[in-house]
Amino acid sequence: MIKNFKAEIISNKEINQGIFNLIFKAPELAAATVPGQFLEIMCGTDGAGNGPFLRRPFGVYNTDIKKGTAEILFKVLGQGTKNLSARKAGEILDIVGPLGNGFKIVEANHPVIAGGGMGVAPLLLLVKVLRDKKQKPIIFLGAKNKDELAAVEKFEKYGKVILTTDDGSAGEKCFLNIPLEKYLEENKNSVIYCCGPHAMLKCLAELGKKYKVPVQVSLEEKMACGLGVCRGCPVEVKNKDEKYKMVCKDGPVFPAEDVVW
Ligand SMILES: Cc1cc2nc3c(=O)[nH]c(=O)nc-3n(C[C@H](O)[C@H](O)[C@H](O)COP(=O)(O)OP(=O)(O)OC[C@H]3O[C@@H](n4cnc5c(N)ncnc54)[C@H](O)[C@@H]3O)c2cc1C
Ligand code: FES
Repeated sequence: MIKNFKAEIISNKEINQGIFNLIFKAPELAAATVPGQFLEIMCGTDGAGNGPFLRRPFGVYNTDIKKGTAEILFKVLGQGTKNLSARKAGEILDIVGPLGNGFKIVEANHPVIAGGGMGVAPLLLLVKVLRDKKQKPIIFLGAKNKDELAAVEKFEKYGKVILTTDDGSAGEKCFLNIPLEKYLEENKNSVIYCCGPHAMLKCLAELGKKYKVPVQVSLEEKMACGLGVCRGCPVEVKNKDEKYKMVCKDGPVFPAEDVVW
């Protein structure tokens, strides 16, 4: 159930240049969240909304039901994320969530995870749930360079990780669809779960079509209300009755074949 709640920050650490891992106390959220859901967080410096007027959306990166904690992984881009990066342990966050639908976990011999840039954030929880279900995901992580490859060691705990960077500073120098396509050629009965830049998701949607593999894409449109009310986050879909769906309420995860790329 969606709630507006206050959460105490436990830690907020810069794990890569400009990329922060924020852990906060939220027992109910930790128990209720499914992989792929997101939160809308007030990013004011004092927890009372000073800073950007609108909340900012972040995928739930990790949860620990025993400790009653949840985590986000975020990159500093503008004022909201800059404010968030300055928040300290002991301070209180104002959060709405969990929001959105999340990934639909399906049976497959070869679950493929693909995260581009900060698109890795909502995928760690998914990988953990797949492992709990005795599935063995293969994980493709791509970024512009090694500094933008976040949380690689966390993913390595749960499956084989293939890295790519645009500049070759880590892993293979290419986009992640190149090794991913090779994998699809050799492994039948796959399913792809992905999050990242639009161009990457479009490319994976095309690969899914080519290899007849279902693809679930998590979209990251700019958002305002996060609740399906303002109609500020439309995505065009192949649906006669309803040309646009709202990423916040109907997604953020969609079957790739439903999206007009
Ligand atoms: C469902 C969802 C989940 C998200 N999860 C994460 C996450 O886990 N970690 C993370 O770091 N970011 C995530 N984002 C993106 C994050 O919400 C934005 O980076 C953040 O809102 C920027 O706020 P700001 O005030 O710092 O920057 P703003 O001043 O609002 O924007 C600064 C710059 O960032 C660009 N920007 C803003 N929003 C987005 C967006 N959605 N996608 C691409 N560029 C954007 C703007 O065009 C501008 O150039 C998510 C977005 C959505 C919609
Ligand atoms: S952000 Fe308001 S409808 Fe999606």
